[in-house]
Amino acid sequence: MRVAMIGTGYVGLVSGTCFSEFGHSVTCVDKNPDRINSLLRGEIPIFEPGLDDLVLRNVKAGRLSFTMDIKAAVANADAVFIGVGTPSRRGDGEADLSYVYAAAKEIAEALTHYTLIVTKSTVPVGTGREVERIIRETRPDAEFEVASNPEFLREGAAIEDFMRPDRVVCGAGSDRARELLRALYRPLYINETPILFTTLETAELIKYAGNAFLATKITFINEIADLCEKVNVNVQDVARGIGLDGRIGGKFLHAGPGYGGSCFPKDTNALAATGRKFDAPLSIVETVIDVNDKRKGRMAEKVVAACGGSVKGKTIAVLGLTFKPETDDMRDSPSLEIVPALQSAGATIRAFDPEGMHEAKKLFKDIVWCDDGYETATGADVLVIITEWNQFRALDMEKLKTLLRAPVMVDLRNIYKPAEMKQAGFRYYSVGRPPVQ
Ligand code: NAI
Repeated sequence: MRVAMIGTGYVGLVSGTCFSEFGHSVTCVDKNPDRINSLLRGEIPIFEPGLDDLVLRNVKAGRLSFTMDIKAAVANADAVFIGVGTPSRRGDGEADLSYVYAAAKEIAEALTHYTLIVTKSTVPVGTGREVERIIRETRPDAEFEVASNPEFLREGAAIEDFMRPDRVVCGAGSDRARELLRALYRPLYINETPILFTTLETAELIKYAGNAFLATKITFINEIADLCEKVNVNVQDVARGIGLDGRIGGKFLHAGPGYGGSCFPKDTNALAATGRKFDAPLSIVETVIDVNDKRKGRMAEKVVAACGGSVKGKTIAVLGLTFKPETDDMRDSPSLEIVPALQSAGATIRAFDPEGMHEAKKLFKDIVWCDDGYETATGADVLVIITEWNQFRALDMEKLKTLLRAPVMVDLRNIYKPAEMKQAGFRYYSVGRPPVQ
């Protein structure tokens, strides 16, 4: 099948490449010339493990190409996916759909034959119908249908998630559209991955409900972690104890600095806004947003407390800035609130991130940038772990002690054990775990 993928960000590039790996002929389109030019040079504009090899292999096989020419890509496609961004709109938290609607108009102008237009971007209920209306208005003569196929991949494990998903959700209104989607996902269909066919609106809501549920789970365990700190209980034991209950499940029960990233914050906000719009208030989601927002500031306070109540004139070594490991994505990362709060409180920040530095340098001011964890720790009064990159999981504590001004660590991801850190001679603070006396 011939596929056009509009948008070559984390979702568009990964999905387009994986569809080509399935054997389809895929043209990825972006309006950002830097993105397309770097892809044409064989350079991948984002960091996603395994993506470079997969792109190169499929480009070489002639199944994957990149262009800014949306007209030609759409004219040659059986299915056109919209994978553009849907960021939060300033002020009201609703999803900004201007990129989706602009893409719909451009697609409409390029249609030459029956085409299935599929929204892969995360979009609020009703967006697919609006895309349909825009295309119909722009091109009353065009033969097309609109379907919804939300994406569930996680950055850092995106290829694996796309190739081996728990399920595929397709909102489609006709047999023809369903057949086309089934053919696109044929390798998964054959492997018996559940493919759920629903209405357009149902598919759109499944995506938001899923993300809001996961954000709720994280926020729940974060609040339990706060209680654990007061009552001398280890939150990891509580998480294991409840997670083994099959009705709850053990995933997304890791206490930390609060969720961030390119999806959960904006998607919870957009879902809450949809609830308000339809007079069906989602008070649990509203509370989750509120609790999570406040948490990031509280993480900065935790660092201040670890430094004896003030960081004025102190140097803080920060390891990890991206919102999670194995990505260079800085969008809504907890570090974006924690680091400036510490700077405002008078601290000097030294920092390092394995893949996020390029982006981070555009977002932070007055940071001493370092090349690895040990250089970052040199001369610092405290070491703070914000993102749990693997290379931070096995730091040489003896070496760190010689580099730090004082052996103090605040581990916001619970990657070390309190007893081991005490043994190593550190004053160690983590999330929801009692310090070892
Ligand atoms: P992104 O911001 O990384 O990429 C979007 C791309 O679309 C940009 O390269 C932009 O230049 C391009 N674009 C915008 N308008 C265009 C147009 N008219 N024609 C051609 N290209 C255009 O966004 P990302 O992270 O890939 O997200 C895309 C959608 O997927 C969003 O709705 C997001 O919520 C959803 N999603 C994202 C996931 C993630 O982990 N990043 C996971 C699941 C869903």
